[in-house]
Amino acid sequence: MFRNGARRDHDTGPAPEALRLVKVTKSYGTADSAVTALDGVTLGLGRGTFTAVMGPSGSGKSTLLQCAAGLDRPDSGIVRVDGTELTGGSEAELTKFRRGRIGFVFQQYNLLETLTVVQNTVLPLKLAGRRVDRARVRETLAAVGLGDRLGHRPDQLSGGQRQRVAIARALVTEPRVIFADEPTGALDTRSAREVLALLRQAVRVHGRTVVMVTHDPVAASYADSVLFLADGRLAGRLDAPTADAVAERLAHLGDETTAGV
Ligand SMILES: Nc1ncnc2c1ncn2[C@@H]1O[C@H](COP(=O)(O)OP(=O)(O)OP(=O)(O)O)[C@@H](O)[C@H]1O
Ligand SMILES: [Mg+2]
Repeated sequence: MFRNGARRDHDTGPAPEALRLVKVTKSYGTADSAVTALDGVTLGLGRGTFTAVMGPSGSGKSTLLQCAAGLDRPDSGIVRVDGTELTGGSEAELTKFRRGRIGFVFQQYNLLETLTVVQNTVLPLKLAGRRVDRARVRETLAAVGLGDRLGHRPDQLSGGQRQRVAIARALVTEPRVIFADEPTGALDTRSAREVLALLRQAVRVHGRTVVMVTHDPVAASYADSVLFLADGRLAGRLDAPTADAVAERLAHLGDETTAGV
């Protein structure tokens, strides 16, 4: 009985969260010059959710993303992606996990200038030693509107097109979680909307989990919820955000963080 029950629990129990942080702290520098970038952040995000992270400059948003994505290591606390703890293993294990399960989109695209659109897109697959399915790669690039740019190099593309290559590169490994740090920060309004629509589509159509840092309330309104950071701590959450509600909350957050200065 017990064994069956246990097995049933295991089979039908709740799926692991896409992302779980427990009391994550991170400081930079040493002794008197130390800066606390993250000060005990605890949060959980379900699979298939789209979350925006907002807060004043220097509040720890990028540090949060880097630690959550395994690009940086917290000083203490736990990071779990898709049920796997990132904060325990070796550097090699972390790299392997990251390449297989995590996608990252940067504000400045981080494309390799000497590689074509296709070559940039397949790079994570090659690094992970995975087979490259050319037809699927073309499909992914067509889906982000770059079907006719396959052989172009980044310097032949607009900013919006470059960021769409970066999104294709983040999608091609079919990661559990995609982290994006100000992905629309360098784009005009129209390109920004296209990039946001692609991220939302990754969530709605493909069931990915997206965590996106942004300063733009309109961009944040594409997400299911917004997490606010101030001074390295979580300072609130807004579900079903509208751009107006986000802007109002941000203004308030600014008041609070400068109140003691
Ligand atoms: N490599 C580093 N060395 C020293 N201090 C750092 C480093 N990276 C970040 N910091 C500091 O940690 C704090 C949080 O930085 P972080 O980049 O996470 O902020 P942010 O919220 O992303 O800001 P922004 O909106 O300007 O991008 C800041 O005080 C920053 O100066
Ligand atoms: Mg930042």
